[in-house]
Amino acid sequence: MELPSRPTLFDFHGVSMTKYFTDNWDSVQNFKARPDDILIATYPKAGTTWVSYILDLLHFSQMSPERQESVPLHDRVPFLEIHMPGITSGVDELNKLTTFPRIIKTHLPVQFIPKSFWEENSKIIYVARNAKDSAVSYFHFDRMNMVQPEPGDWSSFLQRFMEGKMVFGSWYEHVRGWWEKKQSSSNILYLFYEDLIEDTERELDRLCSFLGLSATIELKRQVMEKVLFDNMKHNKMVNGSVDEVFDSKISPFMRKGKVGDWKNHFTVQQNEQFDEDYKRKMKNTDLQFRTVL
Ligand code: PPS
Repeated sequence: MELPSRPTLFDFHGVSMTKYFTDNWDSVQNFKARPDDILIATYPKAGTTWVSYILDLLHFSQMSPERQESVPLHDRVPFLEIHMPGITSGVDELNKLTTFPRIIKTHLPVQFIPKSFWEENSKIIYVARNAKDSAVSYFHFDRMNMVQPEPGDWSSFLQRFMEGKMVFGSWYEHVRGWWEKKQSSSNILYLFYEDLIEDTERELDRLCSFLGLSATIELKRQVMEKVLFDNMKHNKMVNGSVDEVFDSKISPFMRKGKVGDWKNHFTVQQNEQFDEDYKRKMKNTDLQFRTVL
């Protein structure tokens, strides 16, 4: 397949986006969600793949174990808004899915979610990750993903992160927008990457209880084992190695999987500037993140 080119960012209804996530806009907005759909919503790099895999295993690993060996996770959990030359669009993939429930990935900010998800009261799991580690992870992702804009050097990337000039817009607005929506929507579970790292089993239980699943102790044990960072890193179906637009020689998709890697990237001065700016942007919210554990 000939690789699509690196796109440029543009302003789309107040959010920085690229054509690969806006070209199919009418179909995305008219997407027909169902009451049993499960939407995993995140700002990029918050643990989408991790939670997608957990949910896929909880629902399907016992019923169809062969699917684990033969179908890449991105086909099991389609990416709603993606529309790129050479691949089936997220909406078309979802409309073709024959398994229930459909587990759906999105990075859209809350105001862009197709209205059928609210009308049908589909369950939504939002995963958030602290800004500093999100920025670092996103930087390495943009280096290795040939269909993301050129990241430039770390210092200019970080500046643009603070300005919200990233694909899917401002981290600050994304996590806050979803947090505010959650206050009035019982169909949203708001999870944190840091909590998943701290105690995966506890978060797995929260997921099961939110989804009304009664997983056996044995199933939970198997899921916990399969979703360990090192096991996912070596699993071709989930580690991004079948993704042709990723250049894993530059940086692997399953990169570090840690809380606090930002300390290896931020200079003292960048950290001070970031903290000051963060306080301003996050001053009117009770949403709290942990940057170390
Ligand atoms: S994407 O491209 O937006 O869908 O990426 P996403 O899956 O949201 O985030 C990728 C980061 O999540 C880390 N990851 C994990 N961490 C711990 N444990 C497990 N099992 C796990 N699976 C994925 C992945 O390594 C990326 O973070 P960084 O910091 O870059 O390592």
